[in-house]
Amino acid sequence: MRKIYIVGNWKLNKTPEETVQFCRELKSNLKKVPEGMVVGISPTHLALESAIREMKGSGMLVGAQSGYWEASGAFTGQVSMSMIKAVGADFCLIGHSEQRQFFGESDESVKKRTETALAIGVLPIVCVGETLQERETGKTDAVLERQIRQGLTGVKITSGCQLVVAYEPVWAIGTGKTATPEMAQDAHAYCRRMLAKVFSGPIAEEISIQYGGSVKPDNAKILLAQQDIDGCLIGGASLKLDSFLGIINA
Ligand code: PGA
Repeated sequence: MRKIYIVGNWKLNKTPEETVQFCRELKSNLKKVPEGMVVGISPTHLALESAIREMKGSGMLVGAQSGYWEASGAFTGQVSMSMIKAVGADFCLIGHSEQRQFFGESDESVKKRTETALAIGVLPIVCVGETLQERETGKTDAVLERQIRQGLTGVKITSGCQLVVAYEPVWAIGTGKTATPEMAQDAHAYCRRMLAKVFSGPIAEEISIQYGGSVKPDNAKILLAQQDIDGCLIGGASLKLDSFLGIINA
């Protein structure tokens, strides 16, 4: 059985103090993570350590939003995957569309980050997804194929549990527009077929594929009911306790 990953992507939001406050409230409202589910948050690098300290023993995960493949050196502005590991992060988002769009993330750099994360024991959550223009010109499958093939071919895993993929149509991120459950299911099934080509059928069956893009408490249930949707990566709605808990409870 694939695990259901419910992960908050906080982007550039919440100071360390606000992070600690949220973690305390989350812990007191979610005493036990439901069976078969993984719940996680990803604050900014600056708040990572305090979130990890606060969430210790809660059964919930804390991860980073990005990590550089080189461990150290002359790379101004970067935080390395090994530093993230050193403070105790469980996972790292890789290839988020905002990283691709604004900070030059490519399929090649996605692959380097993924290999580094695996090598040091941080769970990679690899994000893929098409833009509105790509969808409207019928390129969705081609884009997903390219992102999965170029980002993951040659990456060594022995089990699908070592990797999570997030399908996030760029046009649905932060826009209030969500893919219909059918659209999302089709894209997820396609991603799984590509993962089967890159890894193997059995490994692809084990990989949890999250949906992301304007997930809210009122659309989470129908999305999560789809056969190939194994969780959600949540931006806006993960910043408020009520809506984050609403999605977990859905
Ligand atoms: P959103 O963001 O839920 O605010 O659309 C999702 C994401 O960027 O991961």
